[in-house]
Amino acid sequence: MKFFLDSAKIDEIREARDTFGIDGVTTNPKHVMNSGKPFLTVVNELAAEFKGHPDFPISVEINPHLETAADIVDGAEKIARISENFVIKIPCTNEGLCAARKLEAKGVRTNVTLVFSASQAIVPGKIKAKYVSPFVGWKEDSGDDGLDYVRDIVQIYRTYGFDTEIIVAAVRNGYQIGEAAKAGADIVTAGLAVFRASFEHAFTAQGLGVFQNAWDNTVTD
Ligand code: E4P
Repeated sequence: MKFFLDSAKIDEIREARDTFGIDGVTTNPKHVMNSGKPFLTVVNELAAEFKGHPDFPISVEINPHLETAADIVDGAEKIARISENFVIKIPCTNEGLCAARKLEAKGVRTNVTLVFSASQAIVPGKIKAKYVSPFVGWKEDSGDDGLDYVRDIVQIYRTYGFDTEIIVAAVRNGYQIGEAAKAGADIVTAGLAVFRASFEHAFTAQGLGVFQNAWDNTVTD
């Protein structure tokens, strides 16, 4: 299973790379807004940081006000030209799917995002999008089970042999990471705080204290 960091902040990305060995990055307009920098500045910083490392995918969301497939394709191509790392996030709307099909045919990788049902996830698989992103956290925030449809998507993709990689997105905790892995999803993307909290355990800290105590009370030569 691969881990992507959901962030547009270079310092967070560096920490997640050094500590958790993340395999890629996803961003969205909220992350860009929270960085306090203009969109193109953020995009150029990301491109510069990973120049020469083409195997590190960075999903970038273009202007979400673009409505027609033609405008989405045009906007996506402009951003994709900046870096070979970039994968363009495309909303799972009819126009977005039309744009994603055209972009993939032109060699621009896409991440079909804002996916909230198993049926929505079928088209990205059929059109050979690079990624599909079901939003587990948002689904659970609304009171639904967020992991059931991930399991369904994994099953559907296996049944039909779709190569599109499943990014379990908006992940909020270690339980969701474990369930996404058990389901056979390819990737989880989460914020740095989620990764920090998910890979620690109170018993680990407690056990370390027990061993430190034993070490300190061992007879010395
Ligand atoms: C995924 O690609 C999205 O950027 C992300 O997971 C959205 O969710 P959040 O910002 O609410 O965590």
